[in-house]
Amino acid sequence: MSKKALWSGRFEKGMDEDVLNFTSSLAIDSRLAFYDVMGSLAHVKMLGEREILPSDDVELISNGLRTILRDIEDGRLQLDESLEDVHTNIEQRLTEIVGPSGGRLHTGRSRNDQVSTDFRMYVRDSLLEAVGGIGALQRTLVKRAETEAESVMPGYTHMQHAQPVTLGFHLMAHAFRLDRDADRLMDAYRRMNLCPLGSAAMAGTTYPIDRKRSADLLAFDGPTENAMDSVSDRDFVLDAVYCSCTASIHLSSLCEELIMWSSPEFSFVEMDDAYSTGSSIMPQKKNPDIAELIRGRSGRPLGAMSGLMALLKSLPMAYNRDLQEDKEPAMEALDNLISSLRMAEKMMATLKFNTVRMRQMTEKGFINATDLADYLVVKGMPFRKAHEVVATAVRNCIEQGKRLEDLTLDEMRSFSDMIDEDVFDVINVDSCVERRRSYGGTSPHCVLVQATECIDRVMRRESAVDEANRRIDTAWQNLLG
Ligand code: ARG
Repeated sequence: MSKKALWSGRFEKGMDEDVLNFTSSLAIDSRLAFYDVMGSLAHVKMLGEREILPSDDVELISNGLRTILRDIEDGRLQLDESLEDVHTNIEQRLTEIVGPSGGRLHTGRSRNDQVSTDFRMYVRDSLLEAVGGIGALQRTLVKRAETEAESVMPGYTHMQHAQPVTLGFHLMAHAFRLDRDADRLMDAYRRMNLCPLGSAAMAGTTYPIDRKRSADLLAFDGPTENAMDSVSDRDFVLDAVYCSCTASIHLSSLCEELIMWSSPEFSFVEMDDAYSTGSSIMPQKKNPDIAELIRGRSGRPLGAMSGLMALLKSLPMAYNRDLQEDKEPAMEALDNLISSLRMAEKMMATLKFNTVRMRQMTEKGFINATDLADYLVVKGMPFRKAHEVVATAVRNCIEQGKRLEDLTLDEMRSFSDMIDEDVFDVINVDSCVERRRSYGGTSPHCVLVQATECIDRVMRRESAVDEANRRIDTAWQNLLG
């Protein structure tokens, strides 16, 4: 027979075992145990300060909660499946340890605000961890970009050779995508860092609680404004998962490129042995499985996102049990992002670039055609006309099996007499990239400017994350003190 539920007083019989399994969230919300204890420590401290609970009860309950926390940390806390969720388990355990005083903890709160408070603290930590993970990957991308600021490679649109770029520039493109992801995560963190505790079931409470105080004790920026909204709001979860989606999409593109680039057709990169796998049947194989798994798993946050939106759509105010289902997809999306970021960083730090091969490939596909057109424009030809002239030259080269730079000056001049000897300096790939010095361009100098800007942003964000983490740690120390 199952243990008694917290709410069993009104009921004549216990819950059916099968129903209990169906309704239990313990398998998922056991991960909130730490936050649940912290939330309770803050709540009971505030109740004591407001003289809602006598100080000896506060003392007893707080010590009991600290004992439970030690048990959690040592993996000794036995969670009882028949107790529905982690919150009930902890409250039950508290009463076992401290006796009937434990029953006073739930004064002026409900599981509805408790669940939301706990989950906000969990999501907050994950957001900050993900920002850290992005920063680490950005640092590695920037470092490699600086080394490869002058290495030329083909730039693609439609997967066709477009214009020559530097490898450093390409890597910085990924670094800046990720920069926005990290900014988004920080925005989500700032928006969600408000405390629902004390909203109680949905309408606030008659006890003279101090919600500002409990928010402060838990390192939140303040209390949420409306109790009904507070117990039903899950947009903080949507925000977090959406941020995981954009970052995961960006990781998937990065990995897709590395997978292509490691094929013999490209041979632009070689993955480090430690980040590749072999084949059980084909002895020659070296497969980019890590990149493939990051790419494949990037679908998970996307699934979580649509699942969560479907879960929340049309829910009436205020708390509904549906809301219990927000944790699994959100935790999965965030976990997945954090572990993928870690792997992407390690892979990026160790892979070898084949810059000789990259340079060779810039000789294909008339990648300098735009530069020839721009050359004619500088000599006075309207761009549209120049485009036409170069297109004719390209067609001619295709017929002869030549590159533009293989044409003699006379052959060049047969397309336009505006062309002089200096054309050859303009259309060699090093000069093509060197001269793209417009702000944000691909020139080696621009790459270094971008690297500096990116690192500045990473460092500013790192100090914001450090500050947030320090504030949270201090709150925990004070509560445990
Ligand atoms: N396990 C539930 C959850 O995670 C607890 C909510 C309790 N509230 C309720 N009215 N049943 O959402």
